[in-house]
Amino acid sequence: MNRSRPVTVPEFVARKGADPLVVVTAADFTMARLMDGTGAVDALLVGDSLGTVVQGRSTTLAVTLDQMIYHTEMVVRATQKALVIADLPFGSYQESTEQAVRSAARILKETGCAAVKLEGGHHFAKTIAALVNCGIPVMGHVGLMPQSVHALGGYKVQRDEHRVLEDAQAVADAGAFSVVIECLPVELGRKVTEKVKVPTIGIGAGPHCDGQVLVGHDLLGLYDGHRPKFVRVYDDLKEHVRDAVRRYSADVRSRDFPSAEESFH
Ligand code: KIV
Repeated sequence: MNRSRPVTVPEFVARKGADPLVVVTAADFTMARLMDGTGAVDALLVGDSLGTVVQGRSTTLAVTLDQMIYHTEMVVRATQKALVIADLPFGSYQESTEQAVRSAARILKETGCAAVKLEGGHHFAKTIAALVNCGIPVMGHVGLMPQSVHALGGYKVQRDEHRVLEDAQAVADAGAFSVVIECLPVELGRKVTEKVKVPTIGIGAGPHCDGQVLVGHDLLGLYDGHRPKFVRVYDDLKEHVRDAVRRYSADVRSRDFPSAEESFH
């Protein structure tokens, strides 16, 4: 990918069945700039997983709309090429379609991102349609929905084929431009991808999806907490960080740092 303007929603949709879409999460300016600067990413998702990998919580439930706006604005400011999508956090859209429109409009107006993502299947079809009717592009999210972790009894592979297929179809029919499918058996990931007209973005849903998403902190090996089976770690940045800080500490203690060149005379 070599381009000087951001990927648009219609361009993203047009990639259904073509070469796989690359999506990764980012939550701050520096990381978004590094990731987008590679030119190798189609979309940056400001996921509410920042509640765990940035805020250190055990679930995403406490993340607020204001916090999502704060992080998304930084990511948008750093991004030139990728489509930026922001999660609607728990409690910001479930009350009513009016609440959902109000929350999503705030995210688009205050951050400049292009789309929102929300978790929920057929029960949220009306909400998705209301947002789409207001001109707000929506990415759906079905299968394992981390905001429903308590109702689902944990972060488990979702094997109810009927429910997942029905949810994905309802979300696509409501006008979502794409749908994240999380933690599904490979065969079910393939069935959903064949069934819906919009690109499926898999996370733990096998290789047949139209694209893949990973949490940036996971793929870089920055996060030290639980690592799900579906994560491929491309580097062990936490070890690089620890090593750099230990060397800095040793240099300060030995008075090797700062040197003459690092000082003003
Ligand atoms: O919150 C998030 O980062 C997500 C992705 C992992 C799909 O929803």
